[in-house]
Amino acid sequence: MRSLKETPISFQKALKLLKVGEVVALPTETVYGLGASIYSGKGLKKIFQVKKRPVWDPLIVHCYDVKQAKSLIKGDIFLAEALWAYFSPGPLTVVLPKNSKVSPLITAQAETVALRIPSHPLMRRILKALNQPVAAPSANLFGETSPTKASHVLSSFSGRIPVLDGGDCKIGLESTIVQPDSIKKELLILRPGFISKEDIKNFLEKKKHPWKIMRGGKTFSQPGGFSKHYAPGVPLIVVESGKSLKAIEGFLFKKYPSKKVKFLKLSSSPQITARYLYHQMRVLSEDKKNIICVCKRSFPKYGKGFWPAIWNRLEKASSRTIILP
Ligand code: TXA
Ligand code: MG
Repeated sequence: MRSLKETPISFQKALKLLKVGEVVALPTETVYGLGASIYSGKGLKKIFQVKKRPVWDPLIVHCYDVKQAKSLIKGDIFLAEALWAYFSPGPLTVVLPKNSKVSPLITAQAETVALRIPSHPLMRRILKALNQPVAAPSANLFGETSPTKASHVLSSFSGRIPVLDGGDCKIGLESTIVQPDSIKKELLILRPGFISKEDIKNFLEKKKHPWKIMRGGKTFSQPGGFSKHYAPGVPLIVVESGKSLKAIEGFLFKKYPSKKVKFLKLSSSPQITARYLYHQMRVLSEDKKNIICVCKRSFPKYGKGFWPAIWNRLEKASSRTIILP
């Protein structure tokens, strides 16, 4: 990784910058976010500019508590309140009809806003002391791998963005995003994450909410031709195969003789895999001769719990999938 002249800033400095409407990279339990007060037009514009993010891709708003989140929305929020009571603070983002307090800059002119109540202690201290919600996308250049360490943020923006260092992100993948449809009583999962489909199903059953979980909803950055996301700096190839690891390695070394084939290590624990996934991708991207490979085996466990979120990111980050019978 690039050598870094800048060092992370103190809590007081971060708070001071946010108070004057500036942009600061902040730790969350999922990934680092590039944050600004939702009331700073200057800060919101700067987020899009420094991240090179298209203006049609809306931002997630981070709130200290349910009361603050409720002050930004309208309409029937019965299920959202129940979800927050059960899962928050934590890695769950809920998309809801917005009210006029939420700038169209945040929502890309849409009528909904994505809200999350994070659990990282330092982020919570910031939100409490600032007493304003903070808009924050992941603190990486658009389309690239999200940062899970302060050093990743410093490296991505060459030290130009001040970072509040909250240590390594415990979860390591972006939050689960859901959107309730109060009329149809359907809950769409727009992006899988640590809070899994099974967790949500258990919640609905336990609390006796007769809602259906639906797939197929999309975040703004998903539709149509735009699929390049979470990508490392070198090609990433997913190999689907039931063959032995040795046989797969042999095939890849032959297929890419001029490249250095590097394998991503997946732990049998999805929590450990997710925590180190983006860091591994960054480290393996440093040498531009590398290609990163990851083997998707047909184990049933990959379809459950946190694994679908991990494979969702790997498949989006990959430049191709090879199927080896
Ligand atoms: O864990 C996370 O969610 C991290 C941390 C920093 O909180 N944030 C994050 O933000 O991943 P970002 O901007 O990288 O991803 C947010 C996703 C984008 O795909 C965006 O299109 C979608 O949320 N999104 C935002 N507002 C939306 C809305 N109103 N409706 C549907 N999708 C929305
Ligand atoms: Mg992102």
